[in-house]
Amino acid sequence: MEVLEGGVAVITFDLPGEPVNKFTAEVIAEFVTLLDRFDADRSIRAAVVISGKPDGFIAGADIDAFLAFRDAKDAERASASGHAMMARIADGRVPVVVAIHGACMGGGLELSLACHYRIATDAPKTVLALPEVQLGLIPGAGGTQRLPKVVGLQVALDMILTGKNVRAKKAYASGLVDELVHPSILRELAVRRARELADGRLERRERKHGAKELLLDDNPIGRAVVFRQAREMTQKKSKGNYPALFAAIDAVQASFGDTREGFATEARLFGEMSQTEVCRQCIFLFYATTALKKDAGAGSAAPLPVDRLGVLGSGFMGAGIAAVSAMQGLPVRFKDVKAEAVAKGIGAVRDVLKDRLTKRQITRQQFDDQLSLVSGTVDYTGFGRTPLVIEAVFEELSVKHTVLRDVERVLPAGAIVASNTSTIPISAIATASRDASRVVGMHFFSPVHKMPLLEVIRTAQTAPEVTATAVAYGKKVGKTVIVVNDAPGFYVNRILVPYLNEAARLLTEGVAIDAIDRAMVAFGYPVGPITLMDEVGLDIGAKVVGVMQAAFGERMAAPAALELVTKDGRLGRKSKKGFYLYDEAGKKGEVDESIYALLPGRTRTELPREQIQQRCALLMVNEAVRTLEEGIIQQPRDGDIGAVFGIGFPPFRGGPFRYIDTVGAATIVAQLRALDAVHPGRFTPAARLVEMAASGARFYPATGKPV
Ligand code: NAI
Repeated sequence: MEVLEGGVAVITFDLPGEPVNKFTAEVIAEFVTLLDRFDADRSIRAAVVISGKPDGFIAGADIDAFLAFRDAKDAERASASGHAMMARIADGRVPVVVAIHGACMGGGLELSLACHYRIATDAPKTVLALPEVQLGLIPGAGGTQRLPKVVGLQVALDMILTGKNVRAKKAYASGLVDELVHPSILRELAVRRARELADGRLERRERKHGAKELLLDDNPIGRAVVFRQAREMTQKKSKGNYPALFAAIDAVQASFGDTREGFATEARLFGEMSQTEVCRQCIFLFYATTALKKDAGAGSAAPLPVDRLGVLGSGFMGAGIAAVSAMQGLPVRFKDVKAEAVAKGIGAVRDVLKDRLTKRQITRQQFDDQLSLVSGTVDYTGFGRTPLVIEAVFEELSVKHTVLRDVERVLPAGAIVASNTSTIPISAIATASRDASRVVGMHFFSPVHKMPLLEVIRTAQTAPEVTATAVAYGKKVGKTVIVVNDAPGFYVNRILVPYLNEAARLLTEGVAIDAIDRAMVAFGYPVGPITLMDEVGLDIGAKVVGVMQAAFGERMAAPAALELVTKDGRLGRKSKKGFYLYDEAGKKGEVDESIYALLPGRTRTELPREQIQQRCALLMVNEAVRTLEEGIIQQPRDGDIGAVFGIGFPPFRGGPFRYIDTVGAATIVAQLRALDAVHPGRFTPAARLVEMAASGARFYPATGKPV
């Protein structure tokens, strides 16, 4: 803290040895000693809080501290001590101006809310959020109490229930920040405003209340309507699987009553949420993704520089890969067989970028710049200096071999060729290469610009720096990357196939389509398995299943009746005909009842929801353990992230391995055996599970940091 002339104290938050500022118990204690000085030193008339980090304000609380809570009471006390500190700022003698540049998250925003005047920079880096619900928690340092008073009930609920980032401009519009400035004058202006506050000369901008807001926020009946709607919507979206969302609504509602009780309610609910299973799993996912960001994926091998990208096949996936690359400023060159196909690919990239422009995620200038990075050819011109090529041509081994041979004729020595195949073993593709050590799999998911996962597949021949380059490139385009070893289906499709097959089998046994989908959505998947089959396309699905069945035998076979569905011309959404009805625009409607006439088991079977859930989910979980046994994934962490980010395995269950740890290997084995007795052949528990059931072992430590 530095006290400037005129009695303005400038507190610079700069946590030593850390890239970002975080609140820890020590930081809070130090803040409190500074606030003590405000009381002792009457010459201090105003204060500024600013960050010493060049790019970030405050990232929030130190997540490690959340793991250390012994029980709900312990967490409640931590929240209360946060409240005490914030109250000393909010209710103190000294007016405090907060100067925000970079991410202002969680406790950082709660501190800002306790300050008397908020200035933010208009830099794109400056974002404000209360992301606690994403960790299964609620804001615990006053966020649920102060935010509604500053931005109004509806904006506050939206921010708290989604945890999403709000950019500076939007924060200004909602009244969350009082002033926007260029980063170069942030400190200077903050000091000036502090002086004006001390002198009682600061004119605040009045936040405009919309008519709707006045009607709703300021009268109890209007508010009751908003809270009821919020609870209904939350129930619908979360299926009741995220208790923190309801706790957050309760806490916000308490902010309209007695102040003390409001804060006490927030602290109590924060404490309760900290002890939920959901919170533990969300925190695990946070640690696992953080660990993956730091993991180069190939030991100590360093990635090679990639300054441009070649994409073979400008179809659906090729265009997606090109789009995410151009967004990062990388020049991309397409190669396809016909000029029309190239033009279509560039058009698809334009659509993705256009969408970002419409949503104001990029400026017109950025749109033009990024689009101009993408070009195409039908004859490999422009591939002579390309260090990395990703192949996304038809899923035919012979086509893959042809393009591999052709492109290697023009590529520089040492260039890497990656395949986006979803089923063909990378080692089989690599047989056509001049140098199999340069061949690797890069399995993106569709749509590429939305799906967060990249599965990098290495063969026994792939050179470590090649794997490292694929991983580094994936991270550059914003993906969470897992590295797996080459085997049919790799990891994600390997565990997806038995799950989807089981759903199909339930169908042929006479269980209703919507009953299956609803059961799995209730379990926590984002969409049901039958809907997913329609999305993927039944022809594509059959191809994948064929590969898996050839490799693993009958237990990976789809029920024969599924063929009748495909033969009926039902390929899913793309043919606007599948298990569900689709309108002209491809929007999904009700179940297509006419499909039941094609299926056996026409007398509908009622099966308890738990039966459906166990049969489908346990097959995925059991298969995941097998991939670990076989060394396809290197550790449970990668399998959990792959399932959650690649398939949508319920995040609040942490992933297949975390799920086993939670339920207990012995219980899972017992459930599998019970199912195996009725449906022999598919539910044989993986050997590793049986061992763990006997020894009581777990995949992750029971306490402390999960990874
Ligand atoms: P697509 O049919 O949309 O695109 C394939 C493109 O490759 C077409 O533009 C075609 O003209 C082009 N092509 C064919 N032969 C070529 C050649 N000799 N030289 C250059 N270009 C050639 O197919 P899609 O869906 O993009 O799939 C591509 C690859 O990605 C396949 O290996 C597929 O298994 C894989 N994949 C697909 C996913 C999906 O959801 N569609 C997901 C993950 C992987």
